[in-house]
Amino acid sequence: MPAAEKIARFIEKSSWIRKMFEEGAILKAKYGAENVYDFSLGNPNLDPPQVFTETLIKCITEKTPMKHGYMPNAGYPEVRRSVARHLKGEQGIDLTENEIIMTCGAGGGLNVIFKAILNPGDIVLCPAPYFVEYEFYADNHGGRIETAPCLKDFDLDIDGLASRVTPKTSAVLINSPNNPTGRVYPEKTIDNLVDMLRQKNKETGRAIYLVSDEPYRKIAYDGVKVPSILAAYENSIMVTSYSKDLSIAGERIGFIALNPKADDAKTLISVMVLANRILGFVNAPASMQKAVGRLQGISVDARIYQRKRDMLCDGLKSIGYEFLRPQGAFYLFPRSPIGDETEFCKRLLGEKILAVPGKGFGAPGYFRLSYCVDDSTIERSIPAFKRAWESVSGQR
Ligand SMILES: Cc1ncc(COP(=O)(O)O)c(C=O)c1O
Repeated sequence: MPAAEKIARFIEKSSWIRKMFEEGAILKAKYGAENVYDFSLGNPNLDPPQVFTETLIKCITEKTPMKHGYMPNAGYPEVRRSVARHLKGEQGIDLTENEIIMTCGAGGGLNVIFKAILNPGDIVLCPAPYFVEYEFYADNHGGRIETAPCLKDFDLDIDGLASRVTPKTSAVLINSPNNPTGRVYPEKTIDNLVDMLRQKNKETGRAIYLVSDEPYRKIAYDGVKVPSILAAYENSIMVTSYSKDLSIAGERIGFIALNPKADDAKTLISVMVLANRILGFVNAPASMQKAVGRLQGISVDARIYQRKRDMLCDGLKSIGYEFLRPQGAFYLFPRSPIGDETEFCKRLLGEKILAVPGKGFGAPGYFRLSYCVDDSTIERSIPAFKRAWESVSGQR
């Protein structure tokens, strides 16, 4: 056996992603990439804003001593100051560089948080559908994800979450705008969630953290407001990245912001800084930190993704597909026209459309389409979606 048993099992568990990827590669080699409609990955297709490139060039050509050297494990103080200042303006929360840790993306940040807060056997409660990597991240640090299904409109089911809280619950983890549903949880929902957590804290005698994974915060549509979690609850930890909103997913840069009013905030920050170091990240990439520190508030134009959303939604709606129109991120999560969505994804594959079955997100009966793709891919895919729909007309 070349790999340890557990990770071998994980590979098995995520084999549908791999399968989709492999089958997609075969189709692309056979028919040409432009003739395959690849909606499988959330890899932003827009170029980063021009100002990002210009700023990065400045950062790497400036004569600054030790600019490629080690630094404080939390990141450059002036970059963290800039992030804190921006958060204050964006979310009205008073925090300083002492509550900010620069990380290797949101994925790196989530690992740092879990390493810092999970005791063996602890549970992270998460609404389903959810981003599949959460399970692996929690497991990395001896914890476990437990899920509570969302409501039909993909809003949080607060009673469902409440019924699953136990003394082992270390954190509730939410993601809004959501991957894979595109849902933004409204302010009222967040208020109800926070009330529930405060009640449970009293009952269990344990302060449950609210971890908010927000890499899509700046990609919201139709003027929808993404409520601030940091402003809503003391024991809150925000984690995010510039992967999606600056289109620099491969550069691995993001941050954690801890609510300064969290219980024992100073200790928790020190623990997370240590976790950043000993997980082997050491610190987030130096030049990327310098660049994003000067680009607070800059992002790609979300209206471009909104237009893509509309193209895809309008096309699929005219065929008969059922879905909730996403309020943010760049994913659409339609209901499969037949019960077994893996079977339907195979039909889509037969039409050279790559989609991801919902069971991988803890929501069988749906499939995910990432529409961070060229407009022409969306346009040309619609007749193929129609053929797949018609191919199961007898089974609906
Ligand atoms: C919900 C969610 N969280 C975290 C991540 C990880 O992003 P990053 O590139 O910042 O690590 C992703 C990436 O797709 C995501 O969709």
